Amino acid sequence: MKTILVIGGYGYIGRVLIEDLTKNNYKVINIDLRIYEDQNKDYNISTSEKIVHLDFRNTDKIKKYLALVDQVVILGGLVGEYITNKYLKLSESINVSGIVNLIDACELQKNIKNLVFISTCSNYGITKKNVLVKEDHELRPLSPYAKAKVKIEHHILSKKKSSLSKTILRFATAFGYSQRMRFDLTVNHFCYSMFKNNKIEVYDPDTWRPYCHVKDFSRIIIKVLNSDKDQIKNQVYNVGSDINNFTKAGIVNLIREKLPNSKVVLKKGGIDKRDYRVSFEKINKELNFSTVYSVSNGIDEIIKILQSAEHDYLKEDALKFRGNFNILANVK
Ligand SMILES: NC(=O)c1ccc[n+]([C@@H]2O[C@H](COP(=O)([O-])OP(=O)(O)OC[C@H]3O[C@@H](n4cnc5c(N)ncnc54)[C@H](O)[C@@H]3O)[C@@H](O)[C@H]2O)c1
Repeated sequence: MKTILVIGGYGYIGRVLIEDLTKNNYKVINIDLRIYEDQNKDYNISTSEKIVHLDFRNTDKIKKYLALVDQVVILGGLVGEYITNKYLKLSESINVSGIVNLIDACELQKNIKNLVFISTCSNYGITKKNVLVKEDHELRPLSPYAKAKVKIEHHILSKKKSSLSKTILRFATAFGYSQRMRFDLTVNHFCYSMFKNNKIEVYDPDTWRPYCHVKDFSRIIIKVLNSDKDQIKNQVYNVGSDINNFTKAGIVNLIREKLPNSKVVLKKGGIDKRDYRVSFEKINKELNFSTVYSVSNGIDEIIKILQSAEHDYLKEDALKFRGNFNILANVK
C-alpha cells in the first residue's frame, strides 16, 4: 500500500482525488487548513484517509508527515483571481513562499519519490485567437494567483538535477460535482444561476478557456503518480482536452438547451480579461490520456444535483461561501 501526502485535500478537487486514491488502495495523509466556512462539514471519509488540520507553511510540523510518505500532491493554496487580489500579502505568503518552502522540504526527504504540483492554464493569460497554445508557449499571467503559479513552476524547473521527480500539471478550469462544491467556477456557476434565478449575466461572452471535469483531473493525477519516473520527471503538461475549449457564450448556449427558459444578458467590459485556447496534444500523446467527460456531461450532472432533494445548495446562496473569507483573519 502506497502512502501519499495530499496538501489541500479538503478542497473541491481534493475531495474527488482522495476518494479515488483510497479506492485505488492508497493510504492518504491530507493536510488542509479548511479556510472556507463551508468546509466545516464532515464528508464521507475513508478509514484510509488521515486528516490533519494544519497550515502547510508550518514546515517544522510538516516534516513529521513528509517522513511518512512516498509521494506528494500539492493542491493547497488560495485559489482564484478574486481571493488572491483581495488578500495580496497573504496569498504571496501562502502561494509563493509557503509552497517554495514546502517543495524544498520535500527535496530533503529521501523517502519521497515524486511530487506533483498542480498549476493552471491561467498562466497563458491572453493568447492569439484561433491558436491552441502548447506547454512551451510564453506565459503571461494576469492575476496574483497565476503569477504565483508561474513563480513556483520556475522554482521547480530550476532544480532539475535533484533526485526528486517533480511534475507540473497545468489544469484547465474545473467543472462537475465534488463533495465540497465550488459554484464560483464558470460551468458550475452558470448552471447554478440559470437554474436558481432563471437568469445569468455573462461578461465578455466571446472569451475562450479550456474546461475539464474534476474526475478527469483525479484520473490524470493518479496516472502520473503511477507513470515511469523517467517519463514524467521535470515535465509540464496541460491537462484537459481540445474539444473542451469553449467561449462563455458556447457554455451558456449548451445550458440553454437544457434550461430553455433562462434569460441571458451578455455584457462587455468584465474585470477578468483571460482569453486563451489550449492544446492538450502532449498529455494525450505522451501519457495516452484523454478526458472522459464533456462540458455537456458536466452541465447535465450539475443540473441533476440542483434538482435533487439530497443537497441544500438552493436554500442558501452557494456562491457566498467563496466570498466569505472571515476565517482568513486568523491566518497570518
Ligand atoms: N478548480 C479549478 O478550476 C482549478 C483550475 C486550475 C488549477 N487548479 C488548482 O488546483 C488546486 C486545487 O483547487 P481547488 O479548486 O480544489 O481549490 P480549493 O480552494 O477548493 O482547495 C484549496 C484547499 O487548500 C486549502 N488551503 C489553503 N491555504 C492553506 C494553507 N496555508 N495550509 C493548508 N491548507 C490550505 C484550503 O483550505 C482548500 O481546502 C489549486 O492549486 C488550484 O490552483 C484548480
